[in-house]
This record gives sequence, structure tokens and C-alpha cells, in this order.
Amino acid sequence: MKNFEYYNPVRIVFGKGKIAELDRLIPENALVLVLTGGGSVKKNGVFDQVAMALKSRKWEEFSGIEANPDYDTCMKAVERIKQKKIDFVLAVGGGSVIDGAKFIVAAACYEGSDPWDIVTGKAKIKTALPFGSVLTLAATGSEMNAGSVISRRSMGAKLPFASEKVFPRFSILDPETTYSLPSHVSACGVVDALVHVLEQYLSHAIHAPLQDRQAEALLMTLMEEGPKVLEYPEDYNVRADIMWCATQALNGVIGCGVFQDWATHMIGHELTAAFGLAHGESLALVLPALLRVRKEHKRAKLEQYGRRVLGLEDSGDMAEAAIAATEAFFKKMGLGVRLSDYGIPNEAVFVVADILDRRGFRLGEDRAVDGPMVREILAKAS
Ligand code: NZQ
Ligand code: ZN
Repeated sequence: MKNFEYYNPVRIVFGKGKIAELDRLIPENALVLVLTGGGSVKKNGVFDQVAMALKSRKWEEFSGIEANPDYDTCMKAVERIKQKKIDFVLAVGGGSVIDGAKFIVAAACYEGSDPWDIVTGKAKIKTALPFGSVLTLAATGSEMNAGSVISRRSMGAKLPFASEKVFPRFSILDPETTYSLPSHVSACGVVDALVHVLEQYLSHAIHAPLQDRQAEALLMTLMEEGPKVLEYPEDYNVRADIMWCATQALNGVIGCGVFQDWATHMIGHELTAAFGLAHGESLALVLPALLRVRKEHKRAKLEQYGRRVLGLEDSGDMAEAAIAATEAFFKKMGLGVRLSDYGIPNEAVFVVADILDRRGFRLGEDRAVDGPMVREILAKAS
């Protein structure tokens, strides 16, 4: 096992009706900015529950954080915070609103000249405003991690940053808030969570049997419960299982002491920036192709995954059978697995590979995924 340091201070408040407890979780006398997305929380009653819980508090709303939160929109929220002397932010929504909040609370305290440096990593985050979240979409794990992904459409960029200064103070996870999700968005969430686990599990084999089995438990549960959500969107237990799996998939625990890949995510982010794919869609089409290109390197873990998670028999090419079963799962969830499924032209292969090359990225657990390999991966996804 590799050396590691693990720290996670996020308080999780899980279950039906828990939004009512916001008053106890937000510091006394705070002036609160409630961040929301494009309006889903107004339609499904979540915003009303938040307003009710904050009735004795001073707060105002900033709405319009878009899916794949944009730098320019976030900077408008930063201006509002400075103008109104806001001292606590509450993100109410999916991963995009929470990621937006992470950038906003850091940028509100940033003293340098260009807050984009926070995203590119040029600037180190020294301090940030405190914030909490009310999660309405099981997918990213942003509710219990220190990562954020910010897009800047004017530059065609979508980049991740991380800092322990932007951990949420708390996250409320009420599975009932996810009943209103369109089924495709629920499916993208399940696939995102599953791919988070696979990025940390399907890498170089290393002795870490506990982390392996924790990852396998998440994979098996997501594969069992995921398809049910399409059929029974208002089944509390199914929604609760998926929500808790998605949080655990990326709160850092299963990644302790093991090699991590993340090339699928980095390639997927560029596909989203260039062609507007939803995050989960981008992953479903990159992962199988990436696994095929990297099959020999990842064979030991692919075979273990095939045997223990997918229940495959030891015959023929077990690694390929495991990849095919994963691809079949994505299709069962209703997602496309080829660029053509989304009408994306084959030139995407070159566009995305060139962008990653220009950014100087070398991806994968062994940094072997370079421009030519990205081209090979995307060609397989064509
Ligand atoms: O904007 P609103 O109106 O709220 O609608 C959203 C949005 O259109 C809607 N939605 C959310 N909750 C809903 C709902 N609709 C009905 N009922 C509800 N309860 O769903 C749409 C997608 O929401 P979004 O927040 O964009 O989805 P997700 O949670 O998948 O977040 C995606 C973003 O997170 C980043 C992705 O790259 C992407 O930018 N990621 C963040 C990570 C992290 N911080 O650790 C890791 C991930 O790998 C990922 O990269
Ligand atoms: Zn993801």
C-alpha cells in the first residue's frame, strides 16, 4: 500500500426531512447567500423547504449557476458577496452548484489580481468563506470532497481544482430531493459515481485488499440499484442507496494508498467543453475505449473486477468481457457509448487530443496517456 494522509471534515446529515435542520447547522448571525441552479429547486419544493428552515435568518438568493458552472457566472456571485458582506454560502442543487460554491467561497477571499489562477492552480487558496450544501443529485461526491470543476466557456476550458479550504462544513442528503430528477440525469449520476470508483479501482494492481473490497461493494451496489431508479424513481430506498454510494465513491476513502487513474475524467471534461456533453455522457463513451487501449496494463484489476463484481466465469479474455459488461451497463442505463451516439464528428478525436497536448497533460496512474494515446482512445470511441 502507498503512504497516504486522509482528512475529511464534512458533516453529513442524511435522510428524509433533514433540510428542516439547516438552522442548527449554519452559524448564528450569519448573513447567508443561497446559491441555486437553473430553477429545478423551485419546481420540486426544495427551495421552499430551505426558505422555511431559514425563516428566522438573514439571507438572499443568487440563482443561475449553470450545469458545468461557468467562471463568469460565479464571478457575479463573488461581486454580490463582497457588496453585501455575505459571510456564509449555502449551495442548493447538484454537483454544479456545489462546485460553483467552492470556487465562489475561495474567490471571495482571494487577494491576487486574477481569480482564474485559483482554477489553473497558479494561486494557492489561503482562505475561503465557510459554506454548506443541500444536495439534490447523487453523482459527483462534491458534497463530501474538496474538489471542484469550473468551466470557462469564453476560453473553451473546463478544469478541476482542489483545496481543503473548500470542503463543505456540512451537506444535507435527503434522498427525496432526487425524486424529481429526469431519468437521463439520474442515469448520468449513477454512471458518474460508478466511474469514480473505477478510476480508483481499475489501476495498477497494488496490495490494498480493504480498499479493493470497499470499491467492489460500491460497484456492486451501484450496478444493482442503478437500473431500479429508472423504473422506480420515487422508491426511497433505491434513491437513498444511490445517494450514499455516490458520496462514498468520491470522498477519498477508497482512493487511500492506491494508484488512481482519472484519464477518463480529464478526456471527458474536454469533450464537455468542446461539444457540450453532460458529464456522465462523456464518461460512458470514454471509459470503455480507454480500458480497451489500456487493457494489458490494467489486466490484473480488470480480471479481478470481472470475477468479483461482474460474476464472470474464467474463460476466454476475461478483461475484454469485463469491459464489454461495463459498456452494456452504460447502455442499460440509457447512455450512448460512441461519439456518433451524440452526433459528435470524428474530428473530435483530434480536437480533444490536441487540446490535452497543448495543456501538457500526461494522464493515467502511470502518466502514460499522452496526445497520441488520447487519439487512439477516442478513435476507438468513434
Ligand atoms: O440547474 P438546475 O435547474 O438545478 O438543474 C440541474 C441540471 O440541469 C438538474 N437537477 C439537479 N437536481 C435536480 C435537477 N433536476 C430535477 N430535480 C433535481 N433534484 O440536473 C442538471 C444537472 O445538474 P448538475 O449539478 O450539473 O449535475 P452533476 O451533479 O452531475 O454535476 C456535474 C458537474 O460536476 C462536475 C462535473 O464535471 C460537472 O461540471 N464534477 C465534480 C466533481 C467533484 N466536485 O468532485 C467530480 C465529478 O467527476 C465531476 O467532474
Ligand atoms: Zn465524475
